[in-house]
Order: sequence, then structure tokens, then C-alpha cells
Amino acid sequence: MRAVEDVSFAIAAGETLALVGESGSGKSTVGRAVLRLEEPTAGRVRFEGTDLATLTPRALREARRRMQIVFQDPFASLNPRRTIGASVAEGLEIHGIVPREEIGDRVSHLLEEVGLDASFASRYPHEFSGGQRQRIGIARALAVAPTFIVCDEPVSALDVSVQAQVLNLLLDLRTQRGLAYLFIAHDLALVHQIADRVAVMYLGTIVEIGPARAVIGAPSHPYTRALVSAVPEPDPTKAKTRIVLEGDPPSPSALPIGCPFVTRCFHPAKDARCSTERPHLRPVGDQQVACHCAAPGDGAAST
Ligand SMILES: Nc1ncnc2c1ncn2[C@@H]1O[C@H](COP(=O)(O)OP(=O)(O)OP(=O)(O)O)[C@@H](O)[C@H]1O
Ligand code: SF4
Ligand SMILES: [Mg+2]
Repeated sequence: MRAVEDVSFAIAAGETLALVGESGSGKSTVGRAVLRLEEPTAGRVRFEGTDLATLTPRALREARRRMQIVFQDPFASLNPRRTIGASVAEGLEIHGIVPREEIGDRVSHLLEEVGLDASFASRYPHEFSGGQRQRIGIARALAVAPTFIVCDEPVSALDVSVQAQVLNLLLDLRTQRGLAYLFIAHDLALVHQIADRVAVMYLGTIVEIGPARAVIGAPSHPYTRALVSAVPEPDPTKAKTRIVLEGDPPSPSALPIGCPFVTRCFHPAKDARCSTERPHLRPVGDQQVACHCAAPGDGAAST
């Protein structure tokens, strides 16, 4: 089975690319492949100008320090038997970031940077709320001074009010530290606050990618149009028509031959080619879209 295929994108220093799509579309697999936590069978990952596959083990370790990940479930990523201080200090120790005698001070500083009290260092993960644990997960990632963080649905498990706080923290840290993010989400509503660019995944491939204002404001691929139409609109005068997709995505082990979206597509121009020929990304408006029939303005007509 191919979980992800033919996916290619770049993220500039300090930039946030959001990766959006429904469950099973391959978002986490892409995030893990970028960090080489999952070995792709083909393809390259270049980080700060260097192909990761060409690095010596030592250089790869150093590159990995600068690429971190924050997970959806912070509890699962924290060792329940270690204090918060010990968990945050781990990366500092492994990579020898600061002299041993300065580790305590650095941990206090990191906890304060993510909005937690420095005294929390002596406590254990079960003593914290979901939002606090996610802050701890972020402090752990920041400890090793990364330049790039894969945020894999970092707020999906949190209450809506807490989601905004953690998202704001990520935004502040990005400004203060000049971080680049690959921000994975299944919900487009979250993404417009944080993303410079958006990539939409369907069944293991990117079907649309471009500047956030273009992809969210004028979605072109039928799948993106359906996702955008499902985002609640607070202003009733701007009420839009919701596009409800029929059926479920096909199994990744039995992909359609042509367009992966063909079984659910509602585009009026859909034709025989859609069932026989796989569409590749091509420029439509300000974005790239993998659809034979997409034309600029499609989204404006329906949403
Ligand atoms: N270790 C694995 N072994 C086999 N299949 C896997 C494995 N990990 C992921 N998959 C499959 O690969 C596809 C993509 O999974 P992935 O976790 O990347 O999706 P996702 O977009 O992150 O979904 P979610 O929103 O649920 O986190 C799915 O069909 C999944 O079942
Ligand atoms: S290529 Fe055809 S089936 Fe696929 S999204 Fe476009 S119109 Fe729909
Ligand atoms: Mg995932």
C-alpha cells in the first residue's frame, strides 16, 4: 500500500506551511518522512540546503536537532515517570546545548517562555491539563533550539478556548525565534490564522497548494472547495452553501486509476479523462491544482 505518493513542497525559513486533509490522507506520514522518522522508499528531503540522505550519522544528528516535532497527544509523548523538568532537560543533555550546571536555569526559562510557572519543573505529567501538557511538549521541542518544527495536529485534542491559546503561543514563538512550521491540521478553520501557505492532501497526494489567502479565499480543487465550504462562517450575511461530499474516500490499497477524487467529485466538467488519467499539479489562479477541469474562479462560483 502507498500511504503517500508524489508529494513535493518547500518551506522557506520562518514560513508556515499548513498541511490539511481528512483522516488517513497521509499528513502524519509526510511529517514523519520529512524528519526521517519514516524512511521513504523514494524521494529526497533537503534541509537548509543539504540532502539528508548524504549526511554522516553525526551531521544527521545535528540536523535532526534543528528539526523537531510536536505531537497531537502531548501525554503520549511525555514519560509519565519523569518530572517535567527532566523531560524538558533531556534534549539539552543529549545535545550538550548548555553546561550541566546551567540546565536548571535553562529549563526554568523554557517553561516561562511557553507560559508555565518555572516551579512546575518538579511535577509529573498527570498533574497537568491538556493545554499545559501541550505547552510542555512545545518547551521540550524548543529546548534544542530548532529552526523548523513539524506540528502534527498540536491543538486538535484540546478544548476550543485552549486551542486559541496554544495557537497564539506557536505564533508568538514563530515571531520571536524565526521558526518555520509544517502545521498539520484536519480543520481548515484553524489554519488561516497561522499559515502562510496551505497544501491540501487527499488520499496520499497534494491536490492543491498555494498562498493561504488563495487556497482558503478562492479554493479551486473540488475537494478544497468542499473543505472550505464546511468552515463555519460567523457573519450570517456571508452565509455560503455547504458542499457535502458523498461517500467515503476509497481505500488507499485500491486507488482509482485516474484522479484519486473521481469517486466523490461533483465538478460539472468531470469527464472520461478523470477516470483514466491522473491529474498533476498545474497553475490555476495563484495556486497549483491537481485537477483536469479546475479553472480560476470555480471556487468563487460555489462558495
Ligand atoms: N505504520 C503503518 N502501517 C500501515 N499503514 C499505515 C501506517 N501508518 C499509517 N498508515 C496508513 O497510511 C495512511 C496515511 O496515514 P497518516 O497517519 O499519515 O494519515 P493522517 O492524514 O495523518 O491521518 P489522521 O488525520 O488520522 O492523523 C492511512 O491509510 C493509514 O492507515
Ligand atoms: S480531475 Fe476530474 S475527478 Fe478529479 S477533481 Fe478534477 S474534475 Fe474531479
Ligand atoms: Mg495524523
